[in-house]
Amino acid sequence: MDDRLKGRDFLKLLDFTPDEIRYLIDLSAELKKFKKNRVSHRYLEGMNVALIFEKTSTRTRCAFEVAAHDLGMGTTYLGPGSSQMGAKESVADTARILGSMFDGIEYRGFGQDIVQTLADYADVPVWNGLTNEFHPTQMIADMLTVQEVFGELAGRKLTFMGDARNNVANSLMVVCAKLGMDYCACGPADRMPDEALIETCRSIAAETGSTITLTDDVREGVSGASVVYTDIWVSMGEPYEVWEQRIKLLSPYQINSDVMGMAAPDAIFMHCLPSYHNTDTTVAQDIHKRFGISEMEVTDEVFESERSKVFHEGENRLHSIKAVMLATLVPDDLYDLG
Ligand code: CP
Ligand code: NVA
Repeated sequence: MDDRLKGRDFLKLLDFTPDEIRYLIDLSAELKKFKKNRVSHRYLEGMNVALIFEKTSTRTRCAFEVAAHDLGMGTTYLGPGSSQMGAKESVADTARILGSMFDGIEYRGFGQDIVQTLADYADVPVWNGLTNEFHPTQMIADMLTVQEVFGELAGRKLTFMGDARNNVANSLMVVCAKLGMDYCACGPADRMPDEALIETCRSIAAETGSTITLTDDVREGVSGASVVYTDIWVSMGEPYEVWEQRIKLLSPYQINSDVMGMAAPDAIFMHCLPSYHNTDTTVAQDIHKRFGISEMEVTDEVFESERSKVFHEGENRLHSIKAVMLATLVPDDLYDLG
């Protein structure tokens, strides 16, 4: 890879070539083997990373922390409202301070412009742990999962059902186009991605021999799909009041066993998680009380089925975030995994 990734920020997958993305997926797979075989991989001993979370997290935070510790690094967690950033200190000033103390900075929060400003002002790699627009580390884990299940990625179809303009859906459209997978956004017209992003992805897809389709028809959307993917209907940072409208708009795009039956015979179900597939959470209980539904974007039956790869996918967040940090922090001859 000629150290092409060392020193790079990881803000969105549009900034990376297909080869670079494939390299990160393969590096994740190698690091996963090390972890499973308990082979020490403390390549980054003595380094430290800052983890800024302006939104809550289970997987991303734990993956960054465990990955950093496995690599020998120290971590400092700055949770929602726990630093001066934003209220008393600008993002640019915070970036220069953190950049002087840490070897890398992770940011989860709101606009993509914030993570971009951090990257512009900090002299160390900045990693996007989820913004309103994109969730790129999730994509490396997801594509590793698809690769582990099917072997090859190129030529397969992935259909995203539901809120097709959220951060995860946007990122899936980009990564599929980059890796030669056919992407289908299946949902209501006013929850489709921005036109400009669709056009960008279509031109990437033309180069990689894949397609981007948009449809509001479930059967058409899911037909032939190897991967049927969904996400929650209201993302972090959106007002609670939008639930009512989203339930109306997106209920026809719930993934249930009928929908899985329309996909390829060996299709898998994926979800970045967390998921509202039952009423075991306070939010789902409130939605149940107000709207009478007990399952949202996916039924419990599909979520718990053999076809569901969601926990496999969740574990892969660890290995892929580790790969992203390793590849961007040091030259690849320092971690030659053969
Ligand atoms: N998928 C994902 O990013 O999960 P968390 O919100 O728990 O980090
Ligand atoms: N679209 C979801 C993804 C969570 C990992 C959100 O932004 O809340």
